[in-house]
Parts: sequence; structure tokens; C-alpha cells
Amino acid sequence: MTDTAILSDRILDLKVKKNAIILAHNYQREEVQDIADHTGDSLELSRIAASIDCDIIVFCGVNFMAESAAILSPDKLVLLPEIKSCCPMADMVTVSSARNLKSNFPGYEYTGGYTYPPEFTLRDIKKLHPGVPVVTYVNTTAEVKAESDICCTSANAVKIVDSLDTDKVICIPDRNLSAWIARNTKKEVIAWDGFCHVHDRVNAPDVAKARQEHPGALLLAHPECRMEVLDKADHVTSTSGMLRYARESDAKQFIIGTETGLMHGLRKENPDKTFYPLRKDMVCPNMKRTSLNSVLHCLESETYKIRVPEEIRVPAKRALDRMLNI
Ligand code: 13P
Ligand code: SF4
Repeated sequence: MTDTAILSDRILDLKVKKNAIILAHNYQREEVQDIADHTGDSLELSRIAASIDCDIIVFCGVNFMAESAAILSPDKLVLLPEIKSCCPMADMVTVSSARNLKSNFPGYEYTGGYTYPPEFTLRDIKKLHPGVPVVTYVNTTAEVKAESDICCTSANAVKIVDSLDTDKVICIPDRNLSAWIARNTKKEVIAWDGFCHVHDRVNAPDVAKARQEHPGALLLAHPECRMEVLDKADHVTSTSGMLRYARESDAKQFIIGTETGLMHGLRKENPDKTFYPLRKDMVCPNMKRTSLNSVLHCLESETYKIRVPEEIRVPAKRALDRMLNI
């Protein structure tokens, strides 16, 4: 038996004994996705976390995802195998004390345009636009969700914005997702200058190079990519949206404009199709922290427990529930 098989067996055994469920995001390492009960995008995993019957949820992903599970399922023990698995974009926007993106992200330059620069906090933006609803991407902290009207994910962002009964919306924190929403809604979008360092690094010349190397392949891109990439994509969607599109498409070759962990699910589901990463370095180091060893340790020691104080959990749940109800 290989080390992977031994570890997997021990995890599965312990999981049954403790009535635990393992959820893994589509960007997780291959072996972690393979032992999960459910893999999915942020929206699917939130829905499962809200409805699943178990005592323990082991969330193989980054901290905001485990936090959302803890917000939605306070009666369950939610565990994050690697406590340092964070999402830098989620930590960019704060409720009241501004983040210095320049010192935290060397090379960061304010993009200007319609976005608010990072010295603005969520409360500053709300004060400048009284009565305008705040649509918050799930890639945010519980505190930020608690100050928001409604959440969205990459799978439902335009639908959520269109469901609101106003002409203007505030969208935080991703400037690229906000630009994509603005492109696809009639509402005015007030945005903030956050970004995902994995998706934002890809540009139009990368698309040209990939298209030249793989002529005829369709480009699927995540809305966290820049508009110069989205403009050239054949389809823009969430990670599970890409899985669905590749499954249903007659095309045989695809260039994948998102974190490379998604390639595992794509290749597993479509052995007759070929998938190329848009860029090989589209790797989220935080998503890759979780290993089979850390999942096993997490189940054995019941660490790390993710809990959200009630005064934050209740308003944050309201924003997540509004999204889940649409
Ligand atoms: P999805 O919701 O599309 O899976 O995206 C989550 C994420 O973190 C993208 O970088
Ligand atoms: Fe955050 Fe980007 Fe990693 Fe997704 S890929 S978890 S947005 S840093």
C-alpha cells in the first residue's frame, strides 16, 4: 500500500468514527480532493455546509470558507486543517481600520478609475453612499460580512446585484469581479481596489501566448481575472461553472484561466478532453497548504476550531442567508 493509500484509509476510518464530513474546494491538492465527501466552488460548499447532517465539518480550503461554514452551521464543529490557510484578498478590506496594500503587496499600485483606494474602509464607503446596499464577495472576513447587506460568489454575483431594488450597489472587495458585474448589469457599481494575486497576475499577452500554443482551444476564465483577460475569454464563470461547461461542451480542448487545482477535477471528469493552464504559475499557495497529513492531524486532534462570536455570526449569517435564498 502506498503512503497516500494508508493516510487516506486512516482519514476515512476516523471520519466515520467521528461522524465528520470533509469538504474540499476545487483548488485543493489532488489527493485532498480525492478523499473529500464533496468538492465544489464557494457557493456549492456554502450550501452543503448549511444543510449537511454531521457532527464535524473538516473544511479543506481557506479560512473565510471555514468561517462561512461556522456562520451557517453553529451547531457543528468546523475544523480548518491548516490555520495559516488564508485568502489575501479577504484580508484586504476591513470594516474600520484601513489596510496598507502597498506595504503588504510589494508592487501594488492603485488602479484608479471607479474603484476606491485601499485607505478607504468599508465604513468610509458606506458613509459616502448612504442607503446603497453592500454586496460582499464571500472572500471576506466574518466582520465584513456582518456589515454587509448580502453576499455573493463568483457563481451568482450578477444575479445577486440584479435582484436588489436599487440603481446603485457597492461591491467589495475584488475590483475585477466588480468590473465584470458592472459589465453585465444596468446598475451603477461602486467598487473597491482589492484583487486576487493569483488571478490578477494574468494579462492579455498571456492569453495571446496560450491561444498561439493551443489553437482552437476554448478559454474559460474566472471573473477574478482582469477585464483584458475576460474580454478575450469564450466563457467567464466560477470554478464549478467551468467544470459544468467543460462537461457539457462538444469542444475537446480548453485553456483554463483559474487556479491550477481545478485541472484535477476537469481531467478526472473528462478523460477524452485536454486542459491547459492559462499560466502554470496560477497557484494559490494558501490553498495548497492542506495535505493528507494535515487532514489526518485535524481529525485526530480536532484542530483548528473555527468559531465566530455571536454578535458577528448573526448579522454575517443574515447576509449569507439572503444570498442562499436567491
Ligand atoms: P469559486 O467560488 O469560483 O470556487 O472561487 C473561489 C476563489 O477563491 C477563487 O479564487
Ligand atoms: Fe483567495 Fe485568490 Fe487564493 Fe482564491 S485563489 S483563495 S481569491 S488568494
